[in-house]
Amino acid sequence: PTIYRHDYQPYAYRVKSTRLCFELDENVTTVVSTLDIERTGTTPVPLILNGEHLELISIEVNGSPLSENDYRLDTETLTLFPESTSFSLQITNRCKPIDNSSLMGLYVSGKSLFTQCEAEGFRRITWFPDRPDVMSRFTVTLRADAKRYPLLLSNGNLISQTDLANGRHEAVWEDPHPKPCYLFALVAGDFDCRETRIKTAEGREALLQVYCDKGDLGKTAWALQCLERSVRWDEQRFGLPLDLDRFMIVAARDFNMGAMENKGLNVFNSAYVLADPDTATDASYEAIESVIGHEYFHNWTGNRVTCRDWFQLSLKEGLTVFRDQEFSADMMAASLPEKEAVSARAVKRIDDVVALRTAQFPEDAGPMAHPIRPESYQEIGNFYTATVYEKGAEVIRMQHTLLGEEGFQAGMQTYFRRHDGQAVTCDDFVDAMDTVYRARNPGKDMSVFRRWYSQAGTPRVNVSINHDAANQSCSITLSQRCEPVGVEKRRNPPVEKPPLHIPFALGLLSPEGTPIPLQNGSDTTDTLVLDLTEHTQSWTFKNVPGRPVPSLLRHFSAPVIVEYDYRNDELALLARFDTDPFARWEAGQELATRYLLAQVSENITNNAPELALLVETWQTLASDDTLSAAYLARALVLPSERILLEKCKPADPQAIVAARNALRAELGIALQDIWQSHYQNLSETLNKSSYAPNPLQAGQRALRNCALSYLVTGQPQKYLDLAVKQYEGATNMTERMGSLSTIVHQDSVQTIQKALASFYSRYENNPLVIDRWFALQATAASTDVDTVRSLMTHPAFTMRNPNRARALLFQFCLNNLKGVHSQAGYAFWAEQVLALDAINPEIAARLARAFDNWRRFAPAYRDAIETALKKIQAHPTLSRNVSEIINKALEL
Ligand code: ARG
Ligand code: ZN
Repeated sequence: PTIYRHDYQPYAYRVKSTRLCFELDENVTTVVSTLDIERTGTTPVPLILNGEHLELISIEVNGSPLSENDYRLDTETLTLFPESTSFSLQITNRCKPIDNSSLMGLYVSGKSLFTQCEAEGFRRITWFPDRPDVMSRFTVTLRADAKRYPLLLSNGNLISQTDLANGRHEAVWEDPHPKPCYLFALVAGDFDCRETRIKTAEGREALLQVYCDKGDLGKTAWALQCLERSVRWDEQRFGLPLDLDRFMIVAARDFNMGAMENKGLNVFNSAYVLADPDTATDASYEAIESVIGHEYFHNWTGNRVTCRDWFQLSLKEGLTVFRDQEFSADMMAASLPEKEAVSARAVKRIDDVVALRTAQFPEDAGPMAHPIRPESYQEIGNFYTATVYEKGAEVIRMQHTLLGEEGFQAGMQTYFRRHDGQAVTCDDFVDAMDTVYRARNPGKDMSVFRRWYSQAGTPRVNVSINHDAANQSCSITLSQRCEPVGVEKRRNPPVEKPPLHIPFALGLLSPEGTPIPLQNGSDTTDTLVLDLTEHTQSWTFKNVPGRPVPSLLRHFSAPVIVEYDYRNDELALLARFDTDPFARWEAGQELATRYLLAQVSENITNNAPELALLVETWQTLASDDTLSAAYLARALVLPSERILLEKCKPADPQAIVAARNALRAELGIALQDIWQSHYQNLSETLNKSSYAPNPLQAGQRALRNCALSYLVTGQPQKYLDLAVKQYEGATNMTERMGSLSTIVHQDSVQTIQKALASFYSRYENNPLVIDRWFALQATAASTDVDTVRSLMTHPAFTMRNPNRARALLFQFCLNNLKGVHSQAGYAFWAEQVLALDAINPEIAARLARAFDNWRRFAPAYRDAIETALKKIQAHPTLSRNVSEIINKALEL
């Protein structure tokens, strides 16, 4: 059944307090839930509670047991027919954590018990109004075997701890903040803990704790530092204090997503907690910082103010991703010398935009396309998407651009003043921003901007330039369009897509590459943000003597695709001289993209640059010593296969892989001297200091690995030894993985096997590193379906652990284009989707999306994917998650 946003109805009851008592046991857990309930309206209405996979023991109302005639029980709901306006309801039920492989609700990971309730997991714990607009004060009693589960954690403050008979003990927790049930959590187990006490800006003494499996304590220092930095940053930049006496993070080995912001008790995928130099890469350190920030920032944007319904998911996710992006950018900039700090923000921006283009642009062009605030869904678990999260963050960022930092913060204050403690909508958020926007921009408002919340698809902005040499003036015309996508295509009558409010940042360069000052009111500036609010608008600039080269969509000021017919030499000029580091990076990438797409035969391109121009541009970039190593590592890497595939019409994966590898080899050979000298210099610099996961060193290691990879790709016989030497002498995981992946992507079987075996025996007991070992092989050029099948028989492989499934199956299906794009590859994929669906529907549904955009592929691929999709569709028992994905893929 499809659920529509417009069908929202407030809940007919309030749950003033919730008392939960757990008799924890991994086989059978008993839950006694006591709810203090009050009807909101005047006339009696049924009380409908959600519950799934539960065994009902008893129901009491005001202390009297109900008989079977007093309620209705079906597979998803429990309905009561209360007559009084307020009453106490007590439900006793059982659930089976050990059998719960979906990892939603109460489940077992390792020897411990964890919960995951967002979005609709609480209903697997007990019957309850499982919707975010029902907020309640929770008191939780946990009882369990004291030896097996010495630590019993839940939200809020620890009220008491008591020893009980039979070797059991109990802990009582009370959360002072009313919350929806999706923010409930409990954890029971035996953990190590690293903690620190801080005093918040408001003067509150708070305890910050990171819990992990016994033996992992040495890997938690970074996580705790990140947590403390998150608290400080939210105080300083947003003026938002920690509102708890105690804030806990617990690492879980089995976890469906990244982490979860349960009030005061965040549960994390251990991949986003554990790090030390020997086992974590610079990228992992960075990801940990960003996820810890993200979950912590939810404490205000998500928890203090939550969502009215799940259609509003981007209210908390888009805003919180924006906040974590800014946090990471500020942390990077703060830890670098001034020269590097300038490009540090650009580096973070480039990484975020690459992520958006890799995952969100294709989503927005395919059968699952939806606005950041979806209009309908079948399974909400399928809507934790790149669109809701990453495009959602771009929509917040545009509001930040329109209002400026100060105005945006004023809008945030307005939002919290109006809605603290409430469950609200995306409209409520924009209303708060609009209040400030209107006050500061008389005559303007955000009514056009709001359309970003209801339109799907990536808009295209076409740019044309008219230079008038006689008057030394230049006019720029921007036209936007956004074709119907996904469900929009099937609407009858066809959907109207009125223009969006697009903040379009641009600069102009003279034909020699110098910035042209632009008039902005009484000031002049390098970069102007144009407010495009209509289908087509023009702007005229004075004092532009020669025909300028436009630098477009600087810092990626809006999530759109720009269309402008650059000449290749103009792109080369921008790649060399643009003062906006994002646009400069973009120009180089565009030049490489043109070259590569032209190598794919069916692609009709008439604007391909000569190889020589590309080599020259790469050479200029690589030898520009004003650029930081981190920036160069982004600028010198070719656009990824997935991003290229997205632009290739029709999509031809094998041709893309071949073209990209060939160009990498060309550049490896042509710029050999530069790669060598970078490699040498960076090795010397890095050898001078011991490992630290800071952005300066991380950038240097990234560039050094990039240089190594170009050298080995260009001339394997000559440089493979260098990779082996780096591998053997590596003092940290970034160096080790950089060299190992270079070795593994070359076809010298013996070296590969030797290196992989040594790596495995070194890290056998570290699951997160063994994930890397699987992932590396999953993406190796020589890996095909048979290789993956044989890796699946390895004793360390299991489908039940999402990280392991992601490392092998997802990496192969999503990132090994060469290996997967064949009939055998698609059949393998279909088989694994079905196998996973029997275990964990949420994870299966993600894998099911691997070929969403199959209709864009060249015919041979397309037909084979369709066959595989139909095979999945024909399976008799599909989860709601997978069936929504597959039906949409075949339908739209
Ligand atoms: N709110 C979490 C986050 O953004 C994501 C949890 C979603 N969980 C799930 N099983 N769908 O960090
Ligand atoms: Zn989130």
